[in-house]
Amino acid sequence: MGNAVAIIYTIIVNKKMKKKIVKKVLEEIEKKNGESEMQASSAVENVVIEVGPVEMFLNQILNEQPMRFSSEQLAACTRNYSSELGSGGYGVVYKGELPNGLPVAVKVLKVSMNKRVQEAFMAEIGTIGRTYHVHLVRLYGFCFDANTKALVYEYLENGSLEKYLYGDEEGSTAMTLECGTLHGIAVGTAKGIMYLHEECQQRIVHYDIKPANILLTADYTPKVADFGLARLGERENTHMSLTGGGRGTPGYAAPELWMALPASEKCDVYSFGMVLFEILGRRRNFDPSRGESKEWFPRWVWEKYEQGEIEYVVSCDRIGEVDMEKAEIMCKVALWCVQFQPAARPSMCNVVRMLEGEMAIVPPANPFHYVMDSNIGSTNSGLWSDTSHIPK
Ligand SMILES: Nc1ncnc2c1ncn2[C@@H]1O[C@H](COP(=O)(O)OP(=O)(O)OP(=O)(O)O)[C@@H](O)[C@H]1O
Ligand SMILES: [Mg+2]
Repeated sequence: MGNAVAIIYTIIVNKKMKKKIVKKVLEEIEKKNGESEMQASSAVENVVIEVGPVEMFLNQILNEQPMRFSSEQLAACTRNYSSELGSGGYGVVYKGELPNGLPVAVKVLKVSMNKRVQEAFMAEIGTIGRTYHVHLVRLYGFCFDANTKALVYEYLENGSLEKYLYGDEEGSTAMTLECGTLHGIAVGTAKGIMYLHEECQQRIVHYDIKPANILLTADYTPKVADFGLARLGERENTHMSLTGGGRGTPGYAAPELWMALPASEKCDVYSFGMVLFEILGRRRNFDPSRGESKEWFPRWVWEKYEQGEIEYVVSCDRIGEVDMEKAEIMCKVALWCVQFQPAARPSMCNVVRMLEGEMAIVPPANPFHYVMDSNIGSTNSGLWSDTSHIPK
């Protein structure tokens, strides 16, 4: 009997023990599950952290906001500023690549920024960053660290129009482009400027239209660059330094800019006309090596136009009839764009229409009577004897 009691007691105790053990095991399993769930969720968090910058980048691109880069990020994406694309009045431009493989051009600004210029910089970022057009260079972001102020733009494979008109450096020969392609570049550029003047939210005057600020994609689609930089402050001596704010580049800047008169978007129309001359002649407008009569190309073009010899103006070998027609149109539009009186210059919308053959072109008036009439120089000495507008 005693044995039987002992056995029953053992079974009961064992049952109790078993229950306890099972409970303990279940608790342990739950605990373990909890831990692995936590581990799993922290792994997910790690993944989120890892893809974060790309996500942020894509979101910001989608939200149409320029990104802010640190100076370390810019140094990394330009491989420590190892590949220089060129330099201009604001600083040096370097080639770079974002972590997702997107090629960029990083312009490191050398302007010393006082408080006013800093405010202008931020305002410009806001404006440029929200301005999109197929014929405008896109701003992806900027850097505003204590020691680095930079702008990060989309990279354009074929660089600036300059090298297709008169080569990169003195003595180097220009790369050739078909007349039709050059006409396309003129039309595209005009559309970019038209957008700035007439179509974007906040009207923008560029003030520095010139071949160096017309960049070309791999298939030679033109995009206007630097349309927000004009107000960033004083630049190097390649640019005009006037009380009017040092706007524009000699040779392209409209008379009202170098005479410090009120300026409007018609300044850009004038500069675009000067670019058209250079496209037509595939030369710098001012070139003393060409002899006195051809030294200043725009004036020579006017003389040829007046004499009914417009065909001499075009610098294209074996030019076909269609291209000749386009060249004649460009010539007349250029003469209209550089009219002395801003009001006499066409709007960019009409420039586009004329270039595309959608609008008849009234014969242009002489745009250079002020430089061709010798009396004017003596009567308005301070104004007309100043030759700073002639390209250097
Ligand atoms: N987004 C870009 N993609 C490719 N190349 C570029 C880009 N931006 C600039 N460059 C190159 O860098 C050069 C210098 O440009 P930058 O704008 O600094 O000088 P600039 O146009 O000659 O004068 P400015 O200071 O008046 O604009 C250009 O001529 C071009 O070759
Ligand atoms: Mg530029």
